[in-house]
Amino acid sequence: MEEPSPVISSVTPERPSYLGDPAVLLAERFGAGPTPSIVSVPGRVNLIGEHVDYHGLPVLPMAIQRRIRIAFRPRDDRRIRAVSPPYGARDFEWTRHLKPTSSGDWENYIRAAAEAVGARWNPARGIDAAVVSDLPPAAGLSSSSALLTGFTLALLQANGVRATFEELMEVLPEGEYFVGTRGGAMDHAAVLGSRSGCALWVHFAPLSACPVPIPKDWSFLVAHSLTTAEKSGKVRAEYNARRTAGSRALEGLGFPSYAAAITNSTFGQLKALAGARLEGEEQRCFLHVVGEAFRTTEGVAALRNADASAFGRILNESHESLRDLLRVSSPALDALVDAARRAGAMGARLTGAGFGGCAVIFCHSSNRQQIAAALVKLYYSERHGFDPGTHLIAAEPSSGALYE
Ligand code: GLA
Repeated sequence: MEEPSPVISSVTPERPSYLGDPAVLLAERFGAGPTPSIVSVPGRVNLIGEHVDYHGLPVLPMAIQRRIRIAFRPRDDRRIRAVSPPYGARDFEWTRHLKPTSSGDWENYIRAAAEAVGARWNPARGIDAAVVSDLPPAAGLSSSSALLTGFTLALLQANGVRATFEELMEVLPEGEYFVGTRGGAMDHAAVLGSRSGCALWVHFAPLSACPVPIPKDWSFLVAHSLTTAEKSGKVRAEYNARRTAGSRALEGLGFPSYAAAITNSTFGQLKALAGARLEGEEQRCFLHVVGEAFRTTEGVAALRNADASAFGRILNESHESLRDLLRVSSPALDALVDAARRAGAMGARLTGAGFGGCAVIFCHSSNRQQIAAALVKLYYSERHGFDPGTHLIAAEPSSGALYE
């Protein structure tokens, strides 16, 4: 059989040339000076455990090879100056009790980081910073958490602070609230704690992060539905509504937490209980959350046992639950997941918040190129705006944030 030619640029691990060198950008924009430090932070894709992190239940994301890189130099005063090629330069005084600037401005992520660091530590030095990235924004790959985390780590390093994973996991979700999003803490855990070649099994109460190696012959694609899921406006309201319905259901059943609900109960028992005592959205959200919790445990076991068919089935079941119970899928995501399965994937599901955004597609490594090619035919050829480098990514399990 003829070797298929690559359809996705990022199957090759080299950085795309548009990424550029942040140290060069820093010198161009803010002048020559001592060699800057560099921090790099990856994007992430969630493999299993969707819409459960904000209920304190474990998740299994992995960091991907697409990253943002920030070159920075400490300053002697409390100014923060930053440049990012597509978004322009920003400059502000790092005072206490910073307020967000106009909604949607990328400066808010820098302000969020500055406020998170300023509220907890006692920094004296601002930074000059230059950001480059090959992580597409608003693509469900957590570019905003990567940016927030990157600036937080840069400001800490510039002030000689070595924060622990636990400390960072306390301040980063707060930073996200500053920008206006009330997600869970999965994204920060993934972009901070991931290890190359592994998925990261994250528990929140108490916090722990355990790398689980991914078999060499397992591969993932992250495919964008070409409909965006900006966590603002309507989508934010929908996301919060799911969260609230899930919490109300829990309260209605008298459990102190979801972790308590699933301890010593089977899914069947919880389903019977929810059937008798809950209705409508609360019942559906409860069933998704507890079902996903059991699937996450099974998914970790399947990964550890290299049981690809079980792992694929679990991903498929998760999509069905997100579509029918939690109702966070969309016609585009359903069509994409369906196309991925027809293309030969072992499993596929929406990943991240949903309502648009991406699907994660699981396959045997030797099939990834064929599946990508088939997906282009089955899904993308009928739609506008497809850019292979942005919308169809061969995701490699990568390391979390690094001081390079
Ligand atoms: C968004 C949030 C995460 C998580 C997912 C759903 O990506 O940022 O914390 O809640 O949605 O699993």
